[in-house]
Amino acid sequence: MRRAMHHPKRFRILITAGPTREYIDPVRYISNDSSGKMGFALAQAARAHGHGVTLVHGPVALPVPPGVRPVPVISAADMLHACLDRWADHDALIMAAAVADYTPARPARAKLKKSASTRVLRLKPTADILATLADCRRPDQLVVGFAVQDRAPRRNAEQKLRRKGLDAIVLNRPETIGAEHAAVEILVRAGGWQVVRPTTKSRLAARLIRLVERLHNDASRLRDRSSNSGR
Ligand code: CTP
Repeated sequence: MRRAMHHPKRFRILITAGPTREYIDPVRYISNDSSGKMGFALAQAARAHGHGVTLVHGPVALPVPPGVRPVPVISAADMLHACLDRWADHDALIMAAAVADYTPARPARAKLKKSASTRVLRLKPTADILATLADCRRPDQLVVGFAVQDRAPRRNAEQKLRRKGLDAIVLNRPETIGAEHAAVEILVRAGGWQVVRPTTKSRLAARLIRLVERLHNDASRLRDRSSNSGR
Protein backbone atom coordinates (compact mmCIF):
# COMPACT_ATOMS: atom_id res chain seq x y z
CA MET A 1 0.00 0.00 0.00
CA ARG A 2 1.31 3.47 -0.83
CA ARG A 3 2.16 5.78 2.06
CA ALA A 4 -0.23 8.46 0.85
CA MET A 5 -3.10 6.12 1.71
CA HIS A 6 -2.35 6.63 5.40
CA HIS A 7 -2.85 10.37 5.30
CA PRO A 8 -6.28 11.49 6.42
CA LYS A 9 -8.42 12.40 3.44
CA ARG A 10 -9.09 16.10 2.90
CA PHE A 11 -12.62 17.13 2.05
CA ARG A 12 -14.30 20.22 0.73
CA ILE A 13 -16.98 21.12 3.24
CA LEU A 14 -19.80 23.57 2.68
CA ILE A 15 -20.91 25.07 6.00
CA THR A 16 -23.78 27.50 6.60
CA ALA A 17 -23.99 29.74 9.64
CA GLY A 18 -25.92 32.51 11.30
CA PRO A 19 -29.40 33.88 10.79
CA THR A 20 -31.00 35.08 7.59
CA ARG A 21 -32.81 38.41 7.29
CA GLU A 22 -36.10 38.69 5.50
CA TYR A 23 -36.82 42.33 4.65
CA ILE A 24 -40.31 43.73 5.15
CA ASP A 25 -39.29 47.11 3.67
CA PRO A 26 -35.86 48.68 3.03
CA VAL A 27 -35.14 49.19 6.74
CA ARG A 28 -37.07 46.47 8.61
CA TYR A 29 -36.68 42.73 8.68
CA ILE A 30 -37.62 39.43 10.31
CA SER A 31 -34.74 37.43 11.76
CA ASN A 32 -33.70 35.37 14.80
CA ASP A 33 -31.12 35.29 17.60
CA SER A 34 -28.59 33.03 15.88
CA SER A 35 -25.06 34.35 16.51
CA GLY A 36 -23.34 32.16 13.91
CA LYS A 37 -20.98 30.76 16.58
CA MET A 38 -21.73 27.09 15.84
CA GLY A 39 -21.20 27.41 12.08
CA PHE A 40 -18.06 29.54 12.48
CA ALA A 41 -16.67 27.05 15.03
CA LEU A 42 -17.36 24.26 12.52
CA ALA A 43 -15.54 26.20 9.80
CA GLN A 44 -12.54 26.71 12.08
CA ALA A 45 -12.47 23.05 13.15
CA ALA A 46 -12.79 21.81 9.56
CA ARG A 47 -9.92 24.08 8.53
CA ALA A 48 -7.80 22.89 11.46
CA HIS A 49 -8.34 19.33 10.18
CA GLY A 50 -6.98 20.41 6.78
CA HIS A 51 -10.27 20.50 4.89
CA GLY A 52 -11.28 23.11 2.33
CA VAL A 53 -14.11 25.18 3.74
CA THR A 54 -16.72 27.42 2.15
CA LEU A 55 -18.72 29.30 4.78
CA VAL A 56 -22.04 30.69 3.57
CA HIS A 57 -23.20 32.96 6.34
CA GLY A 58 -25.93 35.41 7.17
CA PRO A 59 -25.35 38.74 8.95
CA VAL A 60 -23.15 38.03 12.02
CA ALA A 61 -20.54 39.90 14.07
CA LEU A 62 -17.79 37.27 13.89
CA PRO A 63 -14.39 37.21 12.19
CA VAL A 64 -14.02 34.67 9.37
CA PRO A 65 -11.45 32.03 10.45
CA PRO A 66 -8.19 32.21 8.44
CA GLY A 67 -8.13 30.02 5.35
CA VAL A 68 -11.93 29.78 5.16
CA ARG A 69 -13.71 31.02 2.01
CA PRO A 70 -16.58 33.27 3.18
CA VAL A 71 -19.74 33.87 1.18
CA PRO A 72 -21.83 36.50 2.99
CA VAL A 73 -25.56 36.49 2.25
CA ILE A 74 -28.62 38.23 3.66
CA SER A 75 -31.84 36.35 2.97
CA ALA A 76 -32.88 32.70 2.86
CA ALA A 77 -33.26 33.02 -0.93
CA ASP A 78 -29.68 34.37 -1.20
CA MET A 79 -28.43 31.51 0.95
CA LEU A 80 -30.24 28.93 -1.18
CA HIS A 81 -28.67 30.28 -4.37
CA ALA A 82 -25.19 30.63 -2.84
CA CYS A 83 -25.37 27.00 -1.65
CA LEU A 84 -26.88 25.58 -4.86
CA ASP A 85 -24.16 27.26 -6.97
CA ARG A 86 -21.40 25.70 -4.87
CA TRP A 87 -22.81 22.32 -3.80
CA ALA A 88 -21.36 20.28 -6.68
CA ASP A 89 -17.80 21.33 -5.67
CA HIS A 90 -18.13 19.98 -2.12
CA ASP A 91 -18.03 16.59 -0.41
CA ALA A 92 -20.22 17.48 2.55
CA LEU A 93 -22.78 20.02 3.72
CA ILE A 94 -23.21 21.02 7.36
CA MET A 95 -26.29 23.19 7.63
CA ALA A 96 -25.87 25.10 10.92
CA ALA A 97 -27.60 28.29 9.74
CA ALA A 98 -30.85 29.34 11.38
CA VAL A 99 -32.68 29.94 8.11
CA ALA A 100 -35.93 31.90 8.39
CA ASP A 101 -38.86 29.62 7.65
CA TYR A 102 -40.98 32.52 6.35
CA THR A 103 -40.37 35.65 4.35
CA PRO A 104 -42.67 38.60 3.59
CA ALA A 105 -44.87 37.69 0.62
CA ARG A 106 -44.59 41.21 -0.83
CA PRO A 107 -41.76 43.28 0.68
CA ALA A 108 -42.45 47.01 0.30
CA ARG A 109 -40.09 48.93 -1.97
CA ALA A 110 -40.36 52.09 0.12
CA LYS A 111 -40.28 52.39 3.91
CA LEU A 112 -43.71 51.65 5.34
CA LYS A 113 -45.44 54.62 6.98
CA LYS A 114 -46.89 54.13 10.41
CA SER A 115 -50.64 54.35 10.84
CA ALA A 116 -53.04 54.02 13.74
CA SER A 117 -54.66 50.87 12.40
CA THR A 118 -53.63 47.25 12.74
CA ARG A 119 -51.38 45.99 9.98
CA VAL A 120 -51.27 42.44 8.69
CA LEU A 121 -48.00 41.10 7.31
CA ARG A 122 -48.40 38.25 4.84
CA LEU A 123 -45.61 35.69 4.92
CA LYS A 124 -44.74 32.89 2.54
CA PRO A 125 -42.55 29.87 3.35
CA THR A 126 -38.91 29.99 2.27
CA ALA A 127 -37.36 27.10 0.36
CA ASP A 128 -35.86 24.41 2.60
CA ILE A 129 -32.17 24.67 1.68
CA LEU A 130 -31.15 21.49 3.49
CA ALA A 131 -33.86 19.39 1.84
CA THR A 132 -33.16 20.96 -1.58
CA LEU A 133 -29.43 20.18 -1.41
CA ALA A 134 -30.04 16.70 0.01
CA ASP A 135 -32.43 16.02 -2.89
CA CYS A 136 -29.89 16.81 -5.58
CA ARG A 137 -26.83 15.29 -3.95
CA ARG A 138 -24.55 12.68 -5.45
CA PRO A 139 -24.17 9.41 -3.56
CA ASP A 140 -20.67 10.49 -2.43
CA GLN A 141 -21.92 13.72 -0.80
CA LEU A 142 -22.76 13.85 2.91
CA VAL A 143 -25.49 15.98 4.42
CA VAL A 144 -25.70 16.97 8.08
CA GLY A 145 -28.52 19.08 9.49
CA PHE A 146 -29.45 20.71 12.77
CA ALA A 147 -32.79 20.68 14.55
CA VAL A 148 -34.10 22.87 17.33
CA GLN A 149 -36.92 21.05 19.04
CA ASP A 150 -38.56 21.56 22.39
CA ARG A 151 -41.39 19.04 22.05
CA ALA A 152 -40.86 15.30 21.49
CA PRO A 153 -37.31 16.21 20.48
CA ARG A 154 -35.91 12.81 19.48
CA ARG A 155 -38.97 11.73 17.55
CA ASN A 156 -39.16 15.02 15.66
CA ALA A 157 -35.44 15.06 14.91
CA GLU A 158 -35.60 11.49 13.63
CA GLN A 159 -38.55 12.33 11.37
CA LYS A 160 -36.62 15.33 10.08
CA LEU A 161 -33.56 13.18 9.33
CA ARG A 162 -35.69 10.71 7.34
CA ARG A 163 -37.88 13.29 5.61
CA LYS A 164 -34.92 15.39 4.48
CA GLY A 165 -32.71 12.38 3.68
CA LEU A 166 -29.83 13.35 6.01
CA ASP A 167 -26.81 11.33 7.10
CA ALA A 168 -26.87 12.86 10.57
CA ILE A 169 -28.80 15.45 12.55
CA VAL A 170 -27.69 17.48 15.56
CA LEU A 171 -30.50 18.00 18.03
CA ASN A 172 -30.29 21.32 19.80
CA ARG A 173 -32.39 22.99 22.48
CA PRO A 174 -33.76 26.50 21.91
CA GLU A 175 -31.50 27.87 24.67
CA THR A 176 -28.42 26.91 22.60
CA ILE A 177 -29.21 29.60 20.03
CA GLY A 178 -26.72 32.43 20.50
CA ALA A 179 -25.13 30.72 23.57
CA GLU A 180 -21.42 29.88 24.16
CA HIS A 181 -22.13 26.28 25.11
CA ALA A 182 -24.17 23.55 23.52
CA ALA A 183 -25.83 20.46 24.96
CA VAL A 184 -26.78 18.33 21.99
CA GLU A 185 -27.62 14.83 20.91
CA ILE A 186 -26.56 13.53 17.53
CA LEU A 187 -28.53 11.03 15.48
CA VAL A 188 -26.53 9.21 12.83
CA ARG A 189 -28.75 7.60 10.18
CA ALA A 190 -26.88 4.33 10.19
CA GLY A 191 -25.93 4.44 13.87
CA GLY A 192 -28.46 5.71 16.40
CA TRP A 193 -28.29 8.40 19.07
CA GLN A 194 -25.11 9.82 20.63
CA VAL A 195 -25.51 11.99 23.73
CA VAL A 196 -22.88 14.72 23.98
CA ARG A 197 -22.13 16.22 27.38
CA PRO A 198 -22.57 20.01 27.54
CA THR A 199 -19.48 21.51 25.98
CA THR A 200 -18.19 24.57 24.14
CA LYS A 201 -19.25 25.08 20.56
CA SER A 202 -15.62 24.74 19.44
CA ARG A 203 -15.25 21.29 21.11
CA LEU A 204 -18.58 20.21 19.67
CA ALA A 205 -17.46 21.48 16.27
CA ALA A 206 -14.29 19.34 16.37
CA ARG A 207 -16.39 16.30 17.28
CA LEU A 208 -18.80 16.93 14.40
CA ILE A 209 -15.94 17.29 11.93
CA ARG A 210 -14.51 13.95 13.12
CA LEU A 211 -17.97 12.43 12.64
CA VAL A 212 -18.18 13.78 9.08
CA GLU A 213 -14.70 12.36 8.35
CA ARG A 214 -15.73 8.96 9.71
CA LEU A 215 -19.04 8.88 7.82
CA HIS A 216 -17.27 9.88 4.63
CA ASN A 217 -14.59 7.22 5.02
CA ASP A 218 -17.19 4.54 5.84
CA ALA A 219 -19.25 5.49 2.80
CA SER A 220 -16.30 5.46 0.41
CA ARG A 221 -15.15 2.11 1.80
CA LEU A 222 -18.64 0.69 1.19
CA ARG A 223 -18.67 2.09 -2.35
CA ASP A 224 -15.19 0.65 -3.06
CA ARG A 225 -16.30 -2.73 -1.77
CA SER A 226 -19.46 -2.82 -3.87
CA SER A 227 -17.66 -1.66 -7.03
CA ASN A 228 -14.94 -4.33 -6.48
CA SER A 229 -17.51 -7.08 -5.90
CA GLY A 230 -19.37 -5.94 -9.06
CA ARG A 231 -16.36 -6.72 -11.23
N1 CTP B 1 -33.17 24.74 7.15
C1 CTP B 1 -32.95 25.03 5.82
N2 CTP B 1 -33.81 25.84 5.13
C2 CTP B 1 -34.88 26.37 5.75
C3 CTP B 1 -35.13 26.08 7.10
C4 CTP B 1 -34.24 25.26 7.77
O1 CTP B 1 -31.98 24.53 5.26
N3 CTP B 1 -35.69 27.17 5.06
C5 CTP B 1 -32.25 23.83 7.86
C6 CTP B 1 -31.54 24.41 9.05
O2 CTP B 1 -30.29 24.98 8.70
C7 CTP B 1 -31.33 23.19 9.93
C8 CTP B 1 -32.58 22.38 9.64
O3 CTP B 1 -33.01 22.76 8.35
O4 CTP B 1 -30.20 22.44 9.54
C9 CTP B 1 -33.66 22.69 10.64
O5 CTP B 1 -34.84 22.15 10.16
P1 CTP B 1 -36.27 22.85 10.32
O6 CTP B 1 -37.18 21.98 9.53
O7 CTP B 1 -36.25 24.30 10.06
O8 CTP B 1 -36.54 22.60 11.80
P2 CTP B 1 -36.53 23.46 13.08
O9 CTP B 1 -36.52 24.94 12.77
O10 CTP B 1 -35.40 22.94 13.87
O11 CTP B 1 -37.88 23.06 13.77
P3 CTP B 1 -39.38 23.03 13.21
O12 CTP B 1 -39.63 21.57 12.99
O13 CTP B 1 -40.17 23.60 14.31
O14 CTP B 1 -39.42 23.85 11.95
